[in-house]
Parts: sequence; C-alpha cells; structure tokens
Amino acid sequence: MDNETIKRAVQEKYATIARKAKSETSTCCNTGCCNENEAEKALSKLYTKLEGYVPEADLMLGCGIPTQYAGISEGNHVLDLGSGAGNDCFIVRAIVGINGKVTGIDFTPEMVAKAKENNLKLGYDNVEFILGDIENMPLPSNTYDVVISNCVLNLVPEKKKAFAEILRVLKPGGHFCVSDIVTNGDVPEKIRHDLELYAGCIAGAIDQNDYLEIIKELGFEKVTIHNQKPAIVPDELKKILLDSVEKISPNSIVSITISGYKPKE
Ligand SMILES: C[S@@+](CC[C@H](N)C(=O)[O-])C[C@H]1O[C@@H](n2cnc3c(N)ncnc32)[C@H](O)[C@@H]1O
Repeated sequence: MDNETIKRAVQEKYATIARKAKSETSTCCNTGCCNENEAEKALSKLYTKLEGYVPEADLMLGCGIPTQYAGISEGNHVLDLGSGAGNDCFIVRAIVGINGKVTGIDFTPEMVAKAKENNLKLGYDNVEFILGDIENMPLPSNTYDVVISNCVLNLVPEKKKAFAEILRVLKPGGHFCVSDIVTNGDVPEKIRHDLELYAGCIAGAIDQNDYLEIIKELGFEKVTIHNQKPAIVPDELKKILLDSVEKISPNSIVSITISGYKPKE
C-alpha cells in the first residue's frame, strides 16, 4: 500500500468527521467517530476544565493533552500539527494571549474549514488555520517557539520526514511537545495495511523505541516522555485487532506525551 493511498484514506475519514460535526449540534459521540468510551469521555472532561476550551472544536480526536507539558509562555508563537477543528489551538490561544500567535495546520480541507468557522465566531485575529501536509509544510524555517500535536503523527506515513519538518520550522532552542500513539512491539504487517485501522490511529503507530530513535537521530535534545498510558482504542477497532489472525493486544498500544528541544546553534 503506497503512502498516497494511506493519506487519501486518512483525509476521507477526517473529512467525514468534520462534515458530521458540522451538521449535528452535540459532540462527536453523535457522529460515530467515538464510541461513548469511558476513557474518551474522561479525557474530554479534563479538556472542558482547560482555559480556552471550545466545545465545537472538541471532536474527541485527541489522545492526550500536549499543552499540559508543552511549557508554552505568554507571547509565544505556537504551531499545532494536524489541528483538526482547532481544539488545542484555542487552549494555546488562552495561554499565549493577545501578544502571541497560534498557527494550526491540517491537510483535510473540511477540518481547516471547520476550524476557521470556529475561529470566526471567537474573533481571534492571532489564530490562523492553514491547509498543508506535515511531511512538507508550506511554512517558514526557524519560526515557532513551540510545536505541539495531538494524536496525529501516527497517521503520517513518514515519521522521519515529519520530525525533520518540526526541526526545520522550530526556532533554535525551541521545542516540540506531542501526544501520540506508539506501540510496544511492532504492529503485524497485515494490520499495518488495514486502512480502517490506519485512519483510526492504530496501524500507523510505530514501536516506541523506533519513535525515540528517529527523534534523537535528528538531533533533538533533552527528549522526555512526560506521560504514558494505554491508548483509547474504540470498541469497533478493538474487535478488528482481536479478530485478526495476527492478534495484537490493545494493551500494547500506548498513548505518550513527549517533548524535545532543537539545539540552540
Ligand atoms: C486524530 S485527528 C486529531 C485532530 C486534533 N489534533 C484534535 O486533537 O482534535 C488527526 C488530524 O490530523 C490530520 N492529519 C493527518 N495526517 C496529516 C498530515 N500528513 N498532514 C496534515 N494533517 C494531517 C487529519 O486531517 C486530522 O484532522
């Protein structure tokens, strides 16, 4: 399966979620993209307590709270990779204030439209949403104080390209803090090619050690894992995992929040 096929499947899935969120008044649990799962509800409940939280932007698509560990300061310019409907961007806006700037990037046009619609209602002139692919971002080098991301990099076929792009766009001395899905052990080849599991944030996840090696090899410093817990696997995806010939335990799929610094020189 080639990377373009994977990316198209990911875009289709998230376009459908964005369209459904548009046509329904309540949360994403009405849209079928989550499963009334207790863990998902618990994460969403934590989000509701964060300053800047916007219910319309929370499509329950995250796997952590990167802003908790991102060390963002007032006045920072922050980039959110795979910003969806803007959930984390609006939390960041509450931290950076009027003197900071927030840029969200996403490659699904429907998600960018949804985020822009949310931002229009809020009237923030220092929050922007851009259409673009994380593997090749239409963004300037050495620009951002902090790069965050929530449950997105597992969906990007070439992780090394994604982290190389993070390194390029960060200011020297800047840092990233991302929540993402990784595995303990490799995902079996057959599961890796399941497009539904890929778009569902499982099949594209890579082994945690390989993930760390990519980050360190690129030259990031002070690489730290802040939080690690079993990932939220929706029940319908759990069933595919357990029914497959090459079984994989949902417990070996982990959600981590990790940070690293671009060297100053
Ligand atoms: C699981 S959702 C997370 C959305 C958001 N971070 C949140 O927590 O609500 C993944 C998002 O990443 C976007 N995405 C996936 N691969 C991407 C890529 N290569 N470049 C840009 N965006 C991507 C999808 O379009 C989708 O909106």
